[in-house]
Amino acid sequence: MRSIIWAVGRALLVGLAAALPAPHPAPAPSPTASFSFNPIAGLTKGIEDQIASIASQLASTQPTKTPDSIPDAVSTLQDIFGPKPTGIITIGLKFLTSGLQVDGLDGTTLDSPPVPGNINSFNNTNPAPPTAVFPQANPADPPFTKSEDELRSAIFIPDTFQGMGNDTVKPILLVPGTGTFGGVTYQGNMIKILQENPSIGQAVWLNVPGAMLDDVQTNAEFIAYAMNYIASLTGTQVSVVGWSQGNLAAQWALKYWTSARTSTKQLVAFSPDFRGTIIADAFDLPLLDAIPVPPAVLQQQSTSNLIRTLRATGEGGDSAFVPTTTLYSAVFDEVVQPQEGTIASAFLRDDRGAGVSNNEIQSVCPGTPAGDFATHESMLFNGLATALALDALQSGGVADPGRLDLAAVCAELAHPALDVADVAETEGTIPLAALNALEFRPGVTAEPAIRAYAL
Ligand SMILES: *[C@@H]1O[C@H](CO)[C@@H](O)[C@H](O)[C@H]1NC(C)=O
Ligand SMILES: *[C@@H]1O[C@H](CO)[C@@H](O)[C@H](O)[C@H]1NC(C)=O
Repeated sequence: MRSIIWAVGRALLVGLAAALPAPHPAPAPSPTASFSFNPIAGLTKGIEDQIASIASQLASTQPTKTPDSIPDAVSTLQDIFGPKPTGIITIGLKFLTSGLQVDGLDGTTLDSPPVPGNINSFNNTNPAPPTAVFPQANPADPPFTKSEDELRSAIFIPDTFQGMGNDTVKPILLVPGTGTFGGVTYQGNMIKILQENPSIGQAVWLNVPGAMLDDVQTNAEFIAYAMNYIASLTGTQVSVVGWSQGNLAAQWALKYWTSARTSTKQLVAFSPDFRGTIIADAFDLPLLDAIPVPPAVLQQQSTSNLIRTLRATGEGGDSAFVPTTTLYSAVFDEVVQPQEGTIASAFLRDDRGAGVSNNEIQSVCPGTPAGDFATHESMLFNGLATALALDALQSGGVADPGRLDLAAVCAELAHPALDVADVAETEGTIPLAALNALEFRPGVTAEPAIRAYAL
């Protein structure tokens, strides 16, 4: 049954992606009909006006109801997705009216950037590391294009972090995905879960200027620097947890910064797109070909030069560089596709014997609350995905579903440390990412060049 739903869903998604580039002249949308607003059909005014209008809806749409429990939130999501998810602008607007939103956008968007001290700040004051990690931690490392000040300021270290020069603390670096900062991405999931389980590890996170919408190669510089910086600061290897592009960019960092492989204990990858996605253009706007888009959007198309370069044989990025756990939802990731079985964009090989555990939640616990419907972002709170992530972090290697009480964790829609507000906050990263993608400047009409070190 699942594979039938999946096949139909995928056909519709491919059709949607194929239908996107052509602008269709059509009547202007009714200003009151934001719920049924069809951005593809709306392109009669200036495109910039259209973008501004959609951005303003994403920034100001108020909920008409709020979910009263986690099951209610998840069933609302299922209703919004219906038989097929549309692009993230259309579903994002529905998230907002349904109360699946970030509580207050100040400091989370590119147009209202975080002030220093905010959990999303990329202007943080962090101490110099005991050992130099810039301009290179290792003579084989490629050059950075960003200054050490910019790279170091993007790391947010909460006051509660005890790992400075204290190698009994296990440091965990949280890396966000396209369109979001680390604080807002993880506050309703891994930050809170780890606060309840500090012996598993203590979190720091990245807030990359541009919210990961800029060149993925630049995003990777922030990650490579942070891996080496946190390892130096704490005196122990850092565990890296990523969401979505955060994993693709981390894999790029690990491929080219060999020093970072030494600094990194493991990668735990929620909804990664190591193969890009066939729906990177699923903004349900004729953005591609019509207007410039954020570089990271073009680079995450499955056919991009970036993806091809990452995966090229030799030091192939289709294989793990450090022990890696992948966590993915075949039904229904509205951003990364394909996301099923061994053809999943999330799926990594293990040609170098680093250690890999690939986990499609629907295969680990089919037909259970945690092993059924899960979106790209709900993987961050999903009971099974979070239990596997904690298992990997606790072991220091890769996750092993055999170590879990599957009957218990698969019965949990969300990790028990989380409440319905956390779930709503986590879902709210989707309309937020759509808003930031619309606010990002300057866009590009062609993928940025592959950097010389990777040619
Ligand atoms: C934050 O840092 C950026 C450079 O990364 C700088 O342009 C900006 O002015 C800074 N903002 C604040 C509020 O300090
Ligand atoms: C090191 O971290 C541990 C927690 O893992 C804490 O109990 C201890 O007080 C810390 N030591 C120092 C010197 O900060």
